Amino acid sequence: MFLTGKALIAGVIGWPVSHSRSPRLHGHWLKTYGIDGAYVPLAVPPTRIEDAIRALPALGFAGANVTVPHKEAAARLADDVDDFARRLGAANTLVVKPDGRIAASNSDAFGFLENLRQRAPGFRANAGPVVVLGSGGAARAVVVALADAGAPEIRIVNRTLARASGLCHLAPSVARAMPWPDMAAALADAVLLVNTTSLGMEGQPPLEIDLGRLPPRALVNDIVYTPLETALLASAAARGNPVVDGLGMLLHQARPGFKAWFGREPEVTDDLRRVVLAP
Ligand code: ATR
Repeated sequence: MFLTGKALIAGVIGWPVSHSRSPRLHGHWLKTYGIDGAYVPLAVPPTRIEDAIRALPALGFAGANVTVPHKEAAARLADDVDDFARRLGAANTLVVKPDGRIAASNSDAFGFLENLRQRAPGFRANAGPVVVLGSGGAARAVVVALADAGAPEIRIVNRTLARASGLCHLAPSVARAMPWPDMAAALADAVLLVNTTSLGMEGQPPLEIDLGRLPPRALVNDIVYTPLETALLASAAARGNPVVDGLGMLLHQARPGFKAWFGREPEVTDDLRRVVLAP
C-alpha cells in the first residue's frame, strides 16, 4: 500500500535503534488493518534527545515509542506524564495531542500483565508470593505491575542487593530485597518466578539457578525473548512448571501506542509472533 499525503506517522526513538523489532511489529499491524500510516526507526543520540522529542509536534508526528537509553529523558521532557510513567520515572510511549502538547505514558507494566493474561489465563498474582530476578528498568515495570495486580509479597532477588533495595519504594508494603545466594528460600512457596536480568539472552551468560524449591505449579516467565525458549524456561518446563516466554510483553506493550496514533485497537496473534520473530 502506498502512503498518501495524509499518512499518520509514528516511530521508535532509540540509540542504537537498528535492533528494534518495533518497526516490524507496527508495520504488520498497519498492513493488516490497511491503515494509511508509517512507523519508522529514529536513531537519536543522547545529545539530541531533547531536540528530537520537541520536534515531534513540529514534524506532525502522531507520537513515538521511546526505548533505551531515552526512557527517563522522555518522562522528564514530556508535557503531561501519566501515573505509571511518573512512578517508574520512565516513559516508552509519547502521544502528540491536538494542541501540540506531548503526553508520556509507560506501557511496560501493561505489556507484562497482558502477556501473562493471554498465555497463562489461570494465573492470579494475588495467590501468593512472587519472585522477580533483577533490578534494572524492566524489573521496575514488573514490580509495579505485580504490586498493582495484588501480589501479597514481591521478593526482588538481585546480584547487587542495594539495587534491589532501591526498587522497594515502588511497592513499599509488599516488596522486599533478597540477596542472590538466598534464591532457594525466595523460591519456596512462590506462585511466580520472573527473570528480568539479561542472563540467558543471546550473547550473555546463561541464567543458572536451582529450581528445586520452586513449587511445581508456580508459573515461570522470562522477559528475555532471544532465544524464545531460554535455558530457564526449558528447565522449568522439564520439571512440569507452566511457562510463558517474553515475546508477548514486547507485543502487548505496543498496543496502547498503536491505538493512540492510528486509531485502532490492534490484536496480538500467532501471525504477529511469527512476523516479529522472523530473522
Ligand atoms: P534493564 O534496564 O534492561 O533491565 P540493566 O539495568 O542492565 O537492564 O539490568 C540488568 C540486570 O541483570 C541487573 O539486575 C543485573 O544485576 P546487577 O544489578 O547486580 O548488575 C543483572 N545481571 C547482569 N549480569 C548478571 C550476572 N552475571 N549475574 C547476576 N545478575 C546479573
